[in-house]
Formats: sequence, structure tokens, C-alpha cells
Amino acid sequence: MSDQLFKQDELSLVQNRLPVWLEESKQLCDKGKVASYIPELAHAPRQALGIHLMDASGKSVSGGDCGLSFTMQSISKIFTLLLALMDNGEKAVFDKVGMEPTGDNFNSMLKLELVQPGIPFNPLINAGAIVISSLIAGGSTKEKADRTLQFFRTLANNDSLSVDKAVYESEAETADLNRSMAYFLKDNGVLEGDVNDVLDVYFRHCSIQVQCKDLARMALVLAFDGTDPITGVNLIPRRYVQIAKTFMVTCGMYNASGEFAIEVGLPAKSGVAGGILTMVPGRYGIGVVGPSLNAKGNSIAGVHLLETMSKEMDWSLF
Ligand code: DON
Repeated sequence: MSDQLFKQDELSLVQNRLPVWLEESKQLCDKGKVASYIPELAHAPRQALGIHLMDASGKSVSGGDCGLSFTMQSISKIFTLLLALMDNGEKAVFDKVGMEPTGDNFNSMLKLELVQPGIPFNPLINAGAIVISSLIAGGSTKEKADRTLQFFRTLANNDSLSVDKAVYESEAETADLNRSMAYFLKDNGVLEGDVNDVLDVYFRHCSIQVQCKDLARMALVLAFDGTDPITGVNLIPRRYVQIAKTFMVTCGMYNASGEFAIEVGLPAKSGVAGGILTMVPGRYGIGVVGPSLNAKGNSIAGVHLLETMSKEMDWSLF
């Protein structure tokens, strides 16, 4: 009972402080850039910053531009990893991707040639996530993409989630680097199947459109070890969630993951559309959006907002 009371007080505190935190963090939007290597993403509002935080009873605090719709991009890689683990088990997945951070950019293919046996270092860099897309079960590309979308809908408790067609087409037309990586992986015997079919599954899951509340609900499932605390339904085995959360700490913010672990101290995953999914394990699921990115491809204002909140609320796990 006193624990419940404490949590309610904390949410009220977050609600009261949120306007100030948002205002401060928004100042940073001018210092970053909206992603444009996927041309369609360049239309996103650079000044936007929004957040949605949800607790185990579904009680929420939200603010700023939390109603903005955006594509998940790399945030989707956490959930395709989970689906691939559920479809294939740990051994089959980790025969094809490693468990280590790279220290390189998210789209780098440098280590694929430098370090034998040429498997991607982890499932969150582009090379690793493309291999993971090849491991999703299904008799056709459509079935694989549909299963992925359905899994995301279930986790977000939102049946209206769908692929943003314009972003999907924009990425498919311009993804020469990802294509070259996929062909390289196929030649190395790491990626099986038709390269274009695998990439189609990958582009589609990156282009699933969400709002902060969807990320918060998906994060809540991870925060409660795979069980949606609102419905009580177990959706993912606990062991796989443990693996996903560990990758979020070590590689979720790419080559800024160490700094994020020190400054924020929570498992998190970012995407180039400006989203960040994070959680306070056992307590909250959190979705943030801020399309202006720093040099490492993470939301510049979003990271600042999470730093401020985590420090003021003493949320770091470490
Ligand atoms: O493959 C890509 O480049 C994008 N679909 C996803 C990259 C991404 O989100 C990196 N995150 N910061």
C-alpha cells in the first residue's frame, strides 16, 4: 500500500516537473539535425519534443509533442530480435549475430571484413538487424512482415499500428548501403534466402508508425519481464527480455551507449526518426520523440530530457 502511494506521488511529481524539463531540453533542438539519408524523414518537425510515461496500472503522464506520429526505425530491432528468439531459440540466433558493441556507427560494415567469422557484432547495428530479419519465421515475405506487425500491435495493445508507406518506399529506394551489406552477408554465408525479400521485411518493420504512447506500452512489457502488467498476459519469455534489455544497455544508443548508461542509466533504444524507447524496470515504460538528432544519430533533446529526468528522479540502475 505504501509502495503504491509512493509510486502515485512520483508520477504526480513527474507531471509537475515535466513542462520545465521539456522547455529546457527543447533548447537543444536547434543544435541537431533531422535525418535526411532516408529522404522522407527530412519532413519531420525539428523543434518537436514529446514524451509518454506509463505505469503498471496504465496510469500515464505525457507532454510536449507526444501526439506526433513517427516511424520506429531502429527501435523495431529490439522487437524483431525478440520475435527471432521466440521463433528460433538462442543458439540459432547467436550463431548468426554476436553479443558485443562495436564502437562504430550504426550503419558501419567495417568489422564484417576485419573480424572473423564475419558475423555482425550485435543484432542492433544495421547489419545485425538485417540478419535478424532473415530469421523471422513465415512461408513468404508477406507472412514474415505481417507476423512482425502483428507482434508489435500486440505489444503496443494497438491494432491500428501500420507501415508508413511513404517512409518504407523512401528507404527502399535509397538503401544502397544496407543492400551492399546484405549482399556481403549473403556471400559470407551469414544471411540466407533472397536478399531483396529479407530487406523488404527489414524496411517494413523500420517503417512501422507509432506515437510515444505505443512505445511506452511496448517498453512497459519489457519493464515487467515480458508480461503486460495491464492485461496480466505473458507475451515474451523472461529470458529473451533479459537478453533484449542487456543489448539495450550495451548497444541500444549505438556508440553513445556508454555515455547514456552513465548519464541516464536505463535500458534504451533509439531510432533515426527521433524516437527513444526506454523504461524504469519494474516501474515504467517510456516513449520519447524528438526528430532533431545528434552526431551519433540519437534524439538530441530526447537524450537531454531523459538525462534530466533520470537524475532528478534517481532512476539510474547503476
Ligand atoms: O536502416 C536504417 O538505416 C534505418 N532504417 C534505421 C537506422 C536507425 O534508426 C539508426 N538509429 N539511430
